[in-house]
Amino acid sequence: MMNNILYPIIFILFISSINALSEPKKAYRGNQLAIFAMALTLIMSFYQINETYLLPAVLALVCGALVGITLAARIKMPNLPQLIALLNGFGGLSAGIIGITESSGPNHPLGLILLIIIIGFITFGGSTAAFLKLATSFTLKNSLVMRLTSAILLFLIAINIYCTNTGTLESILGLALLTSLWGFCFILPIGGADMAIVISLLNAFSGWSTVAVGFSLENALLIIVGTLIGSSGIILTHIMTKAMHRNIYQVIFQPFTAQKEQNYPSNRPFHQGTIRDAAFLLENAHKVIIIPGFGMAAANAQNEIVNMAQILKTKFNVKVKFAIHPVAGRMPGHMNVLLAEADADSNDIYELKDINQEFPTTDVAFVIGANDITNPIAKTKKDSPLYQMPILEVEQAKHILIVKRSLSPGYAQIDNPLFYKDNTLMLLGDAQKITKQIIAEIEND
Ligand code: TAP
Repeated sequence: MMNNILYPIIFILFISSINALSEPKKAYRGNQLAIFAMALTLIMSFYQINETYLLPAVLALVCGALVGITLAARIKMPNLPQLIALLNGFGGLSAGIIGITESSGPNHPLGLILLIIIIGFITFGGSTAAFLKLATSFTLKNSLVMRLTSAILLFLIAINIYCTNTGTLESILGLALLTSLWGFCFILPIGGADMAIVISLLNAFSGWSTVAVGFSLENALLIIVGTLIGSSGIILTHIMTKAMHRNIYQVIFQPFTAQKEQNYPSNRPFHQGTIRDAAFLLENAHKVIIIPGFGMAAANAQNEIVNMAQILKTKFNVKVKFAIHPVAGRMPGHMNVLLAEADADSNDIYELKDINQEFPTTDVAFVIGANDITNPIAKTKKDSPLYQMPILEVEQAKHILIVKRSLSPGYAQIDNPLFYKDNTLMLLGDAQKITKQIIAEIEND
């Protein structure tokens, strides 16, 4: 009875929360709705729980909440993507463990159990590899070895599934171990710019493993919520592959390996600008487009950059816009989240497709901690990992200011010809420090 009343309410709350999260202005409300829906779900679960399991469930809840709260409080914004990878992995792991425990139950079709274990543990192994790649500078020199290992593991998994038909716990555990290893080996060689897509795909996997568990436990809510996560993960994967001009086959089977360009570090001449140069160009511009990237997040410079934009608008009557590339930073929506947190006017924030045509009429393109997403090589160099990824057409602006600490390449390890253009001034230094200095300069003018 209670299920019939609460399930639709929780379902509507989750849908509304996703709907609200699609707009920066309503994102905070979206999070509140999701938290409320989750709290209702927990209350309902505790209401229905068998008394024998009450104490372990409370303990699990308290431990999980403590770990979650500590992680959320400590995590720095730039490290959020690896945390998301880890959380996707936990989703898969818990589904997989439920699959193992359910395998000894009397009524469950073995096919469904195998599905839960396979999706769950692939998600776990793959997410662990994604976490390692994002959290450390781990790169793989010989991806062929991993691919071969994958193939061998796949063969062993097939044999194991055959043995699992006998239903022994050993073969179920063996299957869990092999699929985890396979997920790990499969994701590890995927490199560079494709990691964004992989994270979305793993997110989808964690959703579908939840759906499978929902079927096994005959729990409608798990099926509904899992479907939401699974489908939004698939939609996001589609959006990301489109944004990067890749397809899922290329992402998985033709990985770009991030190799240092032979001509890097480059000794080509470049123009180094001063804070005074930057202030002069910005104050005298009619239109400025700010292009934030991972370095803005790393330097925690979002408040300063929004403040600078505000001063330019109000004091110097400059039209200021923000251009957001779909894969700027290290996670989908990374820049939107940071700019919303800094209270940027959402009317000033534009997506790539809506702003690219404006660069030829822009006086200053202010690139802050962004690199790959502006690299013109993406249009010309066929053997480049960035080839055919749409970029923000910064090079077409009258002047380009680039804030970064050195001439180092970005995530894809590709030198950026933009640095050496005649109309580019490099402002070398930490993004927050440089922006603060520019603000001090323009406030004094
Ligand atoms: P990147 O190409 O990674 O460039 C960021 C630049 O920021 C670096 O060149 C770095 O240069 C600079 N930087 C770092 N710390 C800084 C600081 N404290 N102050 C100033 N500059 C700093 O970033 P992007 O242009 O945003 O492109 C994103 C890349 O990440 C793409 O290749 C994308 O495919 C990939 N990726 C994206 C995602 C998602 S979902 N967004 C997920 C994984 C990977 P210096 O070291 O010289 O300062």
